[in-house]
Amino acid sequence: MLGVSCSKRASVEGVVRTGPEIYKASGCKTCHGDMGQGNRTGPSLLELDKHFDGKSLTAFLLDPAASIAGNSRLEALDNEYRSTMKPVTYLNAEELEVFSKWLLALPQAAQ
Ligand code: HEC
Repeated sequence: MLGVSCSKRASVEGVVRTGPEIYKASGCKTCHGDMGQGNRTGPSLLELDKHFDGKSLTAFLLDPAASIAGNSRLEALDNEYRSTMKPVTYLNAEELEVFSKWLLALPQAAQ
């Protein structure tokens, strides 16, 4: 018998998921497309590095509304799409860092 418990979840402490896993599990693709290419409900996430660095992208994910306020480019996107980003509050610091780095590298690292 292997001592593997069914109640162990991927989110167990110390297990850091990869960018694609987080993207999928967080439902980002509903609004931003399978590969971050964007669709009718959300803008493209390709070439985010033109607008963000790791720090500002992390800040955006934690509190989109605060980053959008006063940023004319983001305000225009907010007006263009009917949906709105919700804060990403469910990732630990390590996953947030992995995820931000992966997002900034799109589309090269899409899969
Ligand atoms: C309900 C639809 C929806 C979901 C789900 C969603 N987003 Fe968004 N996202 C948007 C919209 C709409 C915008 C444009 C700004 C606004 O209106 O909030 C946006 C903007 C963004 C931006 C800024 C793009 C730019 O050009 O600056 C990033 C980065 C982003 N989303 C990442 C994500 C990630 C990562 C996830 C998953 C954790 C996610 N989004 C989930 C709708 C969504």
